[in-house]
Amino acid sequence: MLGTDFNLENLGIYEGICETIVTTCKGWTPNAAPMGIIRRKDKIYVRLYKGSKTYENVLAEKFIVANITYDPMLFALSTFTNLEDSAFEQTVHENHTMYSLKDAQSWVAFECMNTKITSEAMVAELVPIHARLNKCRVKAPNRGFYGVIEACIHATRYQLTGDEKYLKLIKAYGDIVEKCGGDAEKNALKKVYEFL
Ligand SMILES: Cc1cc2nc3c(=O)[nH]c(=O)nc-3n(C[C@H](O)[C@H](O)[C@H](O)COP(=O)(O)O)c2cc1C
Repeated sequence: MLGTDFNLENLGIYEGICETIVTTCKGWTPNAAPMGIIRRKDKIYVRLYKGSKTYENVLAEKFIVANITYDPMLFALSTFTNLEDSAFEQTVHENHTMYSLKDAQSWVAFECMNTKITSEAMVAELVPIHARLNKCRVKAPNRGFYGVIEACIHATRYQLTGDEKYLKLIKAYGDIVEKCGGDAEKNALKKVYEFL
């Protein structure tokens, strides 16, 4: 259930699947990876497939921070590598040390509750406990940005399966990035191709 103190729309989290960069930490090194935060009516949850660092950290700590950003390079880099330590900042709130992305427009820290684990994935309900709105920037939707997100998703599927159909999809979304994106989106796409 949503806490009464949080207006999640003001923080960028709306109904549906919100593509965020989730930061987690177990021990000393924070980790960042794109993850969908799923909001259906008054329930919020995350589905984490086995095999990722994020899955491991959430299993241990039951805590995530969802960062909202329009930076396509952050999506490309955090899909395939971990970010430099300098990309993170630390906040302490009520006995929780939380790591967020310095350049996020906003972030929401969630406790993970009622975790359900299957052979493939973990689904955890999310309860917001802290949040920050860093900068409020108006930005018109840009198809190139969403093209980078789609290319990243198909690239992770390509890495998992080796199925060449994903290369075709990456190329199709790459064409949209080339047509509609700015330098930020085009550079992020180049980064995606470097990791294939
Ligand atoms: C836009 C986007 C959304 C993603 N959403 C999820 C998700 O909801 N759950 C998941 O398990 N993986 C998701 N992934 C895949 C992970 O980001 C990817 O496996 C990543 O390499 C995990 O990194 P980690 O090992 O540092 O956690 C998504 C990838 C992208 C590009």
